[in-house]
Amino acid sequence: MNGLEPFKQLVYDYSGLILDGSIAEERLQQHLQKTRQLLGLSAARLLERLYQSRTELDTLISQLTVNETYFFREPEQIDLFVQQLLPRLLATAGDRPLRILSAGCSSGEEPYSLAMAILDTHGEDVLQRITIDGGDVDLSILNKARRALYSSFSFRGVSNELRDRHFDRTSEGYQLHERIRRTVRLFMLNLMAAEYDCDYGPYDVIFFRNVSIYFDLETRKNIQHRFKRIMQPDATLFLGTTETLGNDFGIFQLREHSGLYYFVKGSQVLPDTPQPLRPAPHTAIRPAPAPQPPTASDSQPAIPAQPDPQLVRQLLHEERYTEAASKLDLLLHAGQHQHPARLMQAWLLLNTGHLEQAAQLLDGILQEHPWCLDSLLARGLCYKWQQDHEGACTRFKTACYAHADSWLAQYFYGDCLRHDPQPGVARAPPASGPAHPVSCPGCCQRLSVATAGTTATGCIVPDRAAPACLETGSFAS
Ligand SMILES: C[S@@+](CC[C@H](N)C(=O)[O-])C[C@H]1O[C@@H](n2cnc3c(N)ncnc32)[C@H](O)[C@@H]1O
Repeated sequence: MNGLEPFKQLVYDYSGLILDGSIAEERLQQHLQKTRQLLGLSAARLLERLYQSRTELDTLISQLTVNETYFFREPEQIDLFVQQLLPRLLATAGDRPLRILSAGCSSGEEPYSLAMAILDTHGEDVLQRITIDGGDVDLSILNKARRALYSSFSFRGVSNELRDRHFDRTSEGYQLHERIRRTVRLFMLNLMAAEYDCDYGPYDVIFFRNVSIYFDLETRKNIQHRFKRIMQPDATLFLGTTETLGNDFGIFQLREHSGLYYFVKGSQVLPDTPQPLRPAPHTAIRPAPAPQPPTASDSQPAIPAQPDPQLVRQLLHEERYTEAASKLDLLLHAGQHQHPARLMQAWLLLNTGHLEQAAQLLDGILQEHPWCLDSLLARGLCYKWQQDHEGACTRFKTACYAHADSWLAQYFYGDCLRHDPQPGVARAPPASGPAHPVSCPGCCQRLSVATAGTTATGCIVPDRAAPACLETGSFAS
């Protein structure tokens, strides 16, 4: 048993989060180290304090959760709910209010999206009849949800029209209108709690999307049993589209509609001939349909075809960020090339100075692809520009181990060691690392690296002044 095990066990018992894998463990390690230094505590004493102090445990949990989310994520499910299930619910519920829960709501984009979709589709009166709850175990992300102030990154799934309809632009970001904000009730919800507060529910619909991936099988089953107890007899449960089939434990019944899967508690049935889902006003950015030949009566502007990832890469390379961003949006929502598209999005954010958002996105990617060279390097740069020397070193070192033949990884790691603020740490680059940076004639402001014995043609970014460029080559994969 290593020194982290008792802390991992505590986190698991409290929140269900599994901290296996280098990234999660590293985060835990870093937080514990900082806290111990700050408070001058031994590991044993810190563990004791975490058991005794809920506040300190909550702070730790906030460091470990992955909060990635955005408005109208997986919009087809929102359409299915708003267009098909909700009208039926409204018809059968009589006068009683309807209740929806977003379990693991993160910074609020999911419950607020539901409120906006209901308002845009059914109007104010229907929205008034519905209570929307958002719960999360992470107290600091809940505070962000309460502020309801978002950067443009949260809008990567929606049109500007929708954003401008429901948000005011301020110097700090986009502020959600009060009429949407007040329809969502936000509270601390730990899905691992033995019993959920009796104030929760009974719910007609629970959205539990993109949360179960952080739990083991046992925890996921337990959570479904607890959900069942706080749901109406005919209630519906949505998991993320890629999670649903893997969470079919026979606790709920699996249903399908228009290719979308969801769970129901009782014997809920949809009308015999379900209506095809139509594009709703809230989800204007959608996968581009197959191109149709124009007809004489065509008065609508043409929907652009799905862009080629190579084209986006080229735009990024040429620093045409605005064009790249709009093409990336299309790519991301077409649901194809997800890994390279998300990676390019991260590079775009890095190069436009949105370091926090880039970091969050890269953490999400690295959860799924822990050895991806581009992600490791980008995350390392992000740490570096955020003045987190240790974080940068760790990422570059991992990149070196996982990709021993990558000169970029070697260069960045060597550069990190050279600039290590701690005395006694090696100042020289690794033996096989780069010899010295030299000017790159083809790429003004940037440097390329002459490595020992090889001619390297790629570009690197020696400091924050120059934009990062995409040279490791896996974007097209
Ligand atoms: C990736 S976000 C998903 C956000 C949103 N549901 C979506 O689909 O975009 C996962 C969220 O689950 C929350 N979470 C993790 N463990 C939890 C627990 N035991 N109880 C409640 N929320 C939890 C995290 O804090 C995080 O905000």
